[in-house]
Amino acid sequence: MGKRFYLTTAIDYTNGSPHLGHAYEKIVTDVIARAHRCLGDDVFFLTGLDEHGLKVQQAAAEQGLAPQAYCDGLAVQWKDMARQLGLSIDDFIRTTEPRHKAVVSAILTRLHASNDIYKAAYTGWYSVREETFLTEKDRNPDGTWDARWGQVVPLEEENWYFKMARHQEWLVAFLEQNPSFVQPDSRRNEVLGFLRSEKLEDLCISRPAARLAWGIPLPFAPEWVTYVWFDALTNYLTVPASLGDPVVTTALGPDYQPPAPVADTSLWPANIHVVGKDIVKFHAVYWPIMLKAAGLPLPGQILVHGWWQKDGQKLSKSTGNIVDPIAVIGEWGLDALRYYAVRELAIGPDGNWTDEGFRSRYNSELANGLGNLLNRALNMLNKYRDGIVPAVSDELAGDARAAAAETERLLRAHDLQGALVAIWTLVNRGNLYVEQTQPFKIEKDPAQAARLDEVLYNLVETCRVLSVLLAPFIPTTSAKIHAQLRLEEKPDRLALAAWGGMKPGHKVGAPEPLFPRKDLVKK
Ligand code: ME8
Ligand code: MG
Repeated sequence: MGKRFYLTTAIDYTNGSPHLGHAYEKIVTDVIARAHRCLGDDVFFLTGLDEHGLKVQQAAAEQGLAPQAYCDGLAVQWKDMARQLGLSIDDFIRTTEPRHKAVVSAILTRLHASNDIYKAAYTGWYSVREETFLTEKDRNPDGTWDARWGQVVPLEEENWYFKMARHQEWLVAFLEQNPSFVQPDSRRNEVLGFLRSEKLEDLCISRPAARLAWGIPLPFAPEWVTYVWFDALTNYLTVPASLGDPVVTTALGPDYQPPAPVADTSLWPANIHVVGKDIVKFHAVYWPIMLKAAGLPLPGQILVHGWWQKDGQKLSKSTGNIVDPIAVIGEWGLDALRYYAVRELAIGPDGNWTDEGFRSRYNSELANGLGNLLNRALNMLNKYRDGIVPAVSDELAGDARAAAAETERLLRAHDLQGALVAIWTLVNRGNLYVEQTQPFKIEKDPAQAARLDEVLYNLVETCRVLSVLLAPFIPTTSAKIHAQLRLEEKPDRLALAAWGGMKPGHKVGAPEPLFPRKDLVKK
């Protein structure tokens, strides 16, 4: 079997409940995963949880729980969110699983053996909140530490270091020669700017177990545990390794034995890692260097999304400025959330959630736009032709073809927002077509029966095409449209958007509202 299209999200810290930002990243990645499946790729989509480190240890302690019990409880909640978001994941990784610990140990053993890791004493300023030593460059111009670092304390420690500094030159050259490695360009420029202006230092990859017990022990020095970022990034290799992907198992060496080898699984290198803007440096600098040192090929792309705010303010539990994705799904339905998240915010810039904006897109674009079009098409076909599809007519074929071509082009470029805009040109064209052709009027004139047939075919076929184009974005709605059209086949290939798929003589079902209107209800 050939290499699969391997796609990942960041793995979320188990130190609280999921919020809109986490849900957004997973929705975006799911749309990309589904889009690639519709384009014929054999996709493997991975998400999961980052469970080690000081933040999690502290959060568990605050609840009076052992870290593992604390994580087990939260993992139920996070996995439930993955389910409620309709994520088409192929696996869900937790960094506390034995399969992951085995791969972290193997890669550390490998890098230790190749002399990429050494021990040294270090004294420096340490951010407790961010679990990181700070440098002089991290200071504010007035010499103070920024509030985002939390408590900053002087600390002396013996630790283990990964030789990162010597990798700077090739990494700059690699980024220069591979413009698509970090996307969008603004993020790529940020990484290049950093790498050109600052000298990379070796990376401290251990924490003394005495200070931080909640981590994976270094295989060659178990008095230390692995730095949580080194542990977390390795998750992307854990699943390929544990499925016996030869690219990874070969690099890890003969000591690593996959727990349950599956023949012919080929995932690595990942095609895309989707991550938020705050963790670009880890993915675009540390991660490629770790892979290169371990003799592994680099991923195809780090795709970086922006951050959501609500009403122009940072999402924050302490101020109550949050959007709970599960509550939104409960009130509006999953596809309303998926649609708004992807339509409102392109992958790259920051976004701003407002309840008003959400309601407005729901009512105008989903209920009055898409929902109304399907409702009118099915209603009239049932009323005027007993639900029987008339002969093929091509009046809207050009519009549908243009929308489908544009959607495919934009999906391939991962411009998901652009693709939705393209799809809605067809939704709007369909609704305008009803206004222009006035089927409810010509229906009264027997001389215009053939004309009415044409109009009804164009409307119902447009709905079918839309259900295909929308499948990656709002799969539940796409399936509902298909069910109401009484189509057997699944809308699972973009090629099905070709005009003329609706067969004359086929009988459609009755319309049921896709998006119940809520603008009539005063809140
Ligand atoms: O960083 N808007 O975990 P995390 C959009 N465990 N995205 C947001 C967001 C917001 N308001 N807030 C957070 C970690 N995110 C590490 C990752 S990967 C090997 C390890 C995004 O739970 C954030 O940018 O703090 C990141 O991509 C993801 O949520 C998880 O954040
Ligand atoms: Mg974070």
